[in-house]
Amino acid sequence: MKVDVLLGLQWGDEGKGKIVDVLTPKYDVISRFQGGPNAGHTLEFNNIKHVLHTIPSGIFRENKINVIGNGVVIDPVVFSQEIDEIEKLGIDIRSSLYISKKAHLILPTHRLLDAASENAKGATKIGSTLRGIGPTYRDKIGRDGLRVGDIFSNFKEKYDLRVAQHKLTLERLYQYDYAEQLLNYEKEWFEAIEVLKKFQIVDTEHLINKSLQEGKSVIAEGAQGTMLDVDFGSYPFVTSSNTICAGACTGLGIAPTKIGKVFGIFKAYCTRVGMGPFPTELLDEVGQKLREAGNEFGATTGRSRRCGWLDLVALKYSIMINGATDLIMMKPDVLDDFDTIRVCVAYKINGEEITEFPSELDEKVEPVYVELPGWKTSLCKITHQDEFPEEFNNYINFIEEQTEVPISIVSVGPNRCQTIEIEND
Ligand code: GDP
Ligand code: IMO
Ligand code: MG
Repeated sequence: MKVDVLLGLQWGDEGKGKIVDVLTPKYDVISRFQGGPNAGHTLEFNNIKHVLHTIPSGIFRENKINVIGNGVVIDPVVFSQEIDEIEKLGIDIRSSLYISKKAHLILPTHRLLDAASENAKGATKIGSTLRGIGPTYRDKIGRDGLRVGDIFSNFKEKYDLRVAQHKLTLERLYQYDYAEQLLNYEKEWFEAIEVLKKFQIVDTEHLINKSLQEGKSVIAEGAQGTMLDVDFGSYPFVTSSNTICAGACTGLGIAPTKIGKVFGIFKAYCTRVGMGPFPTELLDEVGQKLREAGNEFGATTGRSRRCGWLDLVALKYSIMINGATDLIMMKPDVLDDFDTIRVCVAYKINGEEITEFPSELDEKVEPVYVELPGWKTSLCKITHQDEFPEEFNNYINFIEEQTEVPISIVSVGPNRCQTIEIEND
């Protein structure tokens, strides 16, 4: 068996959580491979809305194995809050969730370092979620991190050593007054470590590879999106992990030859939270209309998301980097009320038109649009592709022609049931 991967093709918040939940019945194992509580994955069913940050989006379905892989960074406090919320619903998470011994821990000082670093950057800040992601991955790569497996022996000693270094940086580099915040946060954090200890903490690479050998099906759930990838995103306005398909190999311990389908998920328009270039951003009332219709406010930080038209130059780049085999289109219902819909097919830079995504984007990039007619009708109750209005079929066909990848799922609302599988001939 192979591992199918589902990942974001844009700047995150494409709707990964919803679709992983929808696809879960087809899989035995659902695994997260990177990122941490910077992610906010929303699921809606039975009139309840859930936002997951660390836990895979397969957790609400019965008889499934959920895995937090080695590539993920875990904040025990956020994790234990998530556990509380899920257990309130009567779900037996303790027997279905496995956590990698090799996943790194977000320490209280990592959060403080994230805040101090962002403060110090001033106008050039990343707009991080302030969840300590950057400093935790920095320590991982710098070989200074603490991993989940460390919590079982001499933990306080190891912790104190790392935190002493962090305190020095906070004091000397940032002149950051951390004492009170740290005191409050540490107590909660160590309590949460005790919660974490009671979970099934294993070498998840063995679990996943054994599952494949036994003929079980595995899906890997990405966090963030390709345009936030630390190598291929708009550096430095990116997150600190590899959000792309290759990240599933390193973040779970699976060989590249074991990758099956790659589901690339995208919104029918674009959004971005935080700073950094965004060629098709709309700063006018059209952008505002998208924000309101799409309820574009962050699931993790509540920040309002920047909105713009679909960018096929960036999308094609993401498809190339990930080798997407199937596309999943989200939120076209947000465009229900538009007379015309624009799609960016090229960039103009210094008067020259380019279709290949450039390594540096700046304000000189001018999007070149194709205008397509809107469908001016509500999609949200549609249950089969035969009911799609003609203009919407044209929109889908246009994207498929441009990207040369079939759209296999269309989502027309936040609920589980508002999902349409497309039959491609
Ligand atoms: P993720 O981070 O990729 O899982 O996405 P988020 O959960 O951060 O953001 C997606 C938002 O869009 C959530 O509020 C979802 O409930 C909502 N959503 C998902 N699919 C659809 C859809 O097809 N239509 C509409 N209108 N909303 C959707
Ligand atoms: P999901 O999984 C959207 C953005 C932040 C910031 C940059 C770096 O829900 O799609 P970080 O906290 O990682 O250091 O922030 O990345 N960002 C996200 N934007 N969705 C996410 O996750 C994000 N996770 C991080 O806004 O611009
Ligand atoms: Mg999100």
